[in-house]
Amino acid sequence: MAKDLSFSCNECGAGFSKWSGRCDACGAWNSITEDKALSSGPKGKTLGGMRGKPIPLTDLETQEKEPPRTTAGVGELDRVLGGGLVKASALLVGGDPGIGKSTLLLQAAARFARNGLKVIYISGEESNAQVQMRARRLGLEKSPVLLASETNLRDILTTLETEKPDLAIIDSIQTMWADNVDSAPGSVSQVRSSAHELTTFAKRNGMAVIMVGHVTKEGAIAGPRVVEHMVDTVLYFEGERGHQFRILRSVKNRFGPADEIGVFEMTGKGLAEVKNPSALFLSERGAPAPGSVVFAGFEGTRPMLCEIQALVAPSPHSQPRRSVVGWDGGRLAMILAVLESRCGVPFTGLDVYLNVAGGLRITEPAADLAVAAALVSAREDAALPADAAIFGEISLSGALRPVVQTENRLKEAQKLGFTTAIIPQQAKLPAVSGIALRHATDLAGFVEEIFGAQ
Ligand code: TYD
Ligand code: MG
Repeated sequence: MAKDLSFSCNECGAGFSKWSGRCDACGAWNSITEDKALSSGPKGKTLGGMRGKPIPLTDLETQEKEPPRTTAGVGELDRVLGGGLVKASALLVGGDPGIGKSTLLLQAAARFARNGLKVIYISGEESNAQVQMRARRLGLEKSPVLLASETNLRDILTTLETEKPDLAIIDSIQTMWADNVDSAPGSVSQVRSSAHELTTFAKRNGMAVIMVGHVTKEGAIAGPRVVEHMVDTVLYFEGERGHQFRILRSVKNRFGPADEIGVFEMTGKGLAEVKNPSALFLSERGAPAPGSVVFAGFEGTRPMLCEIQALVAPSPHSQPRRSVVGWDGGRLAMILAVLESRCGVPFTGLDVYLNVAGGLRITEPAADLAVAAALVSAREDAALPADAAIFGEISLSGALRPVVQTENRLKEAQKLGFTTAIIPQQAKLPAVSGIALRHATDLAGFVEEIFGAQ
């Protein structure tokens, strides 16, 4: 018999048979709450004697029409969507409170409305007057977007049924409230059942629905992860509060490539798209300084250059600090260990700080070599050549591994005025005019070549 899972985590949605202070699945504290049943469900073990209707079947050969897409006319947004908004699809846009989700979606709503879609924007958090005020600030007050301020799901669905929009935006899913579910708005069961109702309604009526989900640290309200599996596309809107850059990242997309990113800049007049992110991420770079390295990265289908900064200082603590912004802490520990045991560059007794400039978050292992270079450069207090871009993966043995899209990374570096690239040795090195290649087979050789003479 299946275990009775009547408790679930508000962060990741994992089910448990009893309450505990910490979620075993995602590690969040104090995020487990008791679930109220969604509905009582069928009573008997079988569906009963009533006959259903046969489902029409098709084969793989028959040409079904592709679902139509509408573009917003904003390149950065359309690319993340996989080429435009698909009819009858459900999307989730997650992000920290205050990062700019409502701003992004109001601007997107206006764009889609201008391109012929009937758009309804339903806010459960702000009054119509507040949304109008924002629209005026964004210069969108003339856009044909319909507004409503409502949290009752039944009323919302009834409205959508009569209005028949092409796109409905729900801001946010955590404020929605279904009266057939006996728990507070924001709880796992409310969020799940509201998302489920909206998604099935959208599919049945050929409407696209975009749901906003706040990412929560406290676990007091259910995070967007509990609805990720229900929707077609999951986008996260990220960025550092203090920075003006915002990144829209697709983590799941049934209609396009995942891991694609769109770069925006938060200005006084809302979000502006950034067409050449590499130039922007490098624009704040000053004179060559120890610990600063340019990494030629690749995000989704696009090469992207950014600056990795490291600072190494003697630690006053018995346990030195390892602090990372924009990269994975576990991966940093690995690089430090490889530098220490394979290259004889110890970091004991030293505090290590690593930062990816501009609020970008890097996930690809191709950044390993750039991080190692930044760390050694900071430790040795020796700047790298200002015209060099670096990338490559480091294995635990200290060997360097080639990475995908070498040629495109080199071309992007060349376009931005770099003349040297330091990369892993590989069987067939691509030749890109204007870029001199320096390569090494292992990390020890790399450290020796770059810092040995100094
Ligand atoms: P908002 O879209 O309300 O965030 P969310 O819906 O994710 O909670 O954005 C809030 C922040 O954006 C707020 O701190 C102010 C800033 N902002 C601008 O800088 N410029 C603008 O034109 C707008 C509308 C907001
Ligand atoms: Mg908002």
